Amino acid sequence: MLVEVVATALWAMLPAYVPNNAAVLVGGGRPLDAGRTWRDGRRLLGDGKTWRGTAAGVLAGLALAALLDAGRATVGDLLGVALPGFPPLAAVGLAVGAMAGDLLASFLKRRTGRQRGAAFPLVDQLDFVVAALALVGLLAPGWASTVFTLPVLAVVLVATPALHVGTNAAAYLLGLKDEPY
Ligand code: CTP
Ligand code: MG
Repeated sequence: MLVEVVATALWAMLPAYVPNNAAVLVGGGRPLDAGRTWRDGRRLLGDGKTWRGTAAGVLAGLALAALLDAGRATVGDLLGVALPGFPPLAAVGLAVGAMAGDLLASFLKRRTGRQRGAAFPLVDQLDFVVAALALVGLLAPGWASTVFTLPVLAVVLVATPALHVGTNAAAYLLGLKDEPY
């Protein structure tokens, strides 16, 4: 039923949603690429991808997965649906995959001549979901195929860009982000 599909999609993706937001909140400091450039002369990633932001993002995703895992029976009872738990490899796949997707998108932005902070429609909204799903599929294939049924996947792919646009607009209005995307 629809409620179960939507609840499962959002629940299962939460550990992949928070890393980017945590990185924005606590990011800064030394850039991951240490200022290095690619052979096109442009920065590898740029000053927007830092050690602190990346580490905080991964840790936030892992911590949230542990929290959700502990609360899944309670929340599931409240909603009247069976929510998935997060085995360690699933948590790692979602949290690390989400951050890796953001880094890969940044790399692609620099290769296509986009400055730090430039918008890259669709890539900005989906990079972390696609990478998180790919890594969790590699690290925890059994878990991933049980949780991400076709209807759940469809909800994830439709709801994620909307959620992303919404949270980033909110972060922009709160002065946490320089651009609303
Ligand atoms: N951030 C960070 N480390 C990350 C991701 C984000 O420190 N791995 C912080 C940075 O301060 C960054 C801000 O969060 O400026 C916003 O993140 P994002 O929009 O993803 O980066 P941009 O600055 O837009 O850089 P890029 O164009 O490379 O995506
Ligand atoms: Mg940006």
